[in-house]
Amino acid sequence: MRRDSDTVSFVGLGYVGLCTATVMASKGIRIIGVDVDERRIEQLRKGLPPFHEPQLQSMLKAALRKKRMEFTTDASQVVDADSIFITVGTPSNRDGSIDLTYVKKATQDVGSAIAASPSYHLVVVKSTVTPGTTADVVRPVLEASSEKNCGPDLGLCSNPEFLAEGSAIKGTLSPDKIVIGSIDAKSGGTLSKLYRRIYQKIKVPTILTNPTTAETIKYASNAFLATRVSTINTIANICQRVPNADVETVAKAIGLDPRIGPLYLKAGPGYGGSCFHKDLQALISFSRSRNYEPILLTAVEEANQRQATEIVNLSKRLLGSLDNRRIAVLGLAFKKDTDDMREAASLRVIDELLKNGARVSAYDPMALENARRILGDKVELMPNAISCLKGADCCIVMTEWDEFRKLKPSDYKLSMNAPNIVDARRITKRDDFDGFNYLAVGLGTSS
Ligand code: UGA
Repeated sequence: MRRDSDTVSFVGLGYVGLCTATVMASKGIRIIGVDVDERRIEQLRKGLPPFHEPQLQSMLKAALRKKRMEFTTDASQVVDADSIFITVGTPSNRDGSIDLTYVKKATQDVGSAIAASPSYHLVVVKSTVTPGTTADVVRPVLEASSEKNCGPDLGLCSNPEFLAEGSAIKGTLSPDKIVIGSIDAKSGGTLSKLYRRIYQKIKVPTILTNPTTAETIKYASNAFLATRVSTINTIANICQRVPNADVETVAKAIGLDPRIGPLYLKAGPGYGGSCFHKDLQALISFSRSRNYEPILLTAVEEANQRQATEIVNLSKRLLGSLDNRRIAVLGLAFKKDTDDMREAASLRVIDELLKNGARVSAYDPMALENARRILGDKVELMPNAISCLKGADCCIVMTEWDEFRKLKPSDYKLSMNAPNIVDARRITKRDDFDGFNYLAVGLGTSS
């Protein structure tokens, strides 16, 4: 591939790297994608993404047809691009702190790749990293491995992402903001120019700041969102204990206050996914390393953990002891439209059901393969909702899949051993379930 100012490299082709790269390719940018996983690279060359994301596969295939994307395990090839994005994972250490091993390795590979290059290169840290990482960890590793100093010949920016699974492509095509934390004006200007090229037709608010503030924005965003979820779940748990109170109406009303806003106020079984728990733990650990105990954030996490117990307690209210009772769990993914089960609330609920001696059958429209890997034979995985419900003493609706919204009360009644329903996602209406023992998160029992 010829060297070109409209070529961008990505090191790390996970969720963020692949979705961002594919959208850039759709805007005419040439992409060199690097990953250490050979099998992943082989699959990507065939146009097969390693995870499910709406629109991704078709856009990937279109980009490959136009020869706009190349995939390789050879990191030295990043030198063909002016802008090089680091999009590797940042997992947790055992104590919750951030593990920067992959970020350091990727930085070193990039530095070695550009060491002999006479051109200006901009390195962009898109991985989620704790405040100060770009300046204090990435910069020294990059300078040592490239034998260049950051400045006129070598640019460096932090550029966090805010994609949510299931809407990553849509979100990348029209982001609500771009955050650029640059070490100098040239770095910031180069990245701004690249984004102007990508978003020619739309105006995206852009925050220009330093790398450390940019990194903090990412954690603040996830901390705030997680706090909203734990707050509405706390209100839901209170509603459950008050006859006739309903968290749905509470959320609708408070959402009309412009200081609160309507989004992200859905009570449920607790947040899951690869980011919130990991990022909150990293932020908590980071704060402690700075001698600050972030009690609000630890409470948000604790409330989230306990939310699973709240859901299991609803089933206990219907059944009494769960010992040897058969519970049907509808939905395993951490939210709808994904096969991702990382940190899913379903896992915490299933764990607690099993501890209480229940027998669990489970079904998910997309996550069965991941469930088999994670849960093994601890639960009976069923091929569809009806077989999952068969013979169950109670059903817990765990994920808000559209498929489950379409189930009729008769589907439950005809299949189940007893008509006991716990709706942990509020996708059903109590009034439709006449003749059932029905409980839902945040819904006080009618008196
Ligand atoms: C989240 C953020 O929304 C993204 O902005 C961020 O970029 C991303 O993490 C990340 O750091 O990579 P994601 O994990 O894909 O995105 O999922 P969300 O749609 O935010 O949902 C997270 C969890 O909160 C889910 O389990 C969801 O069911 C739950 N949730 C969300 C609620 O229980 N109630 C709500 O009102 C909203």
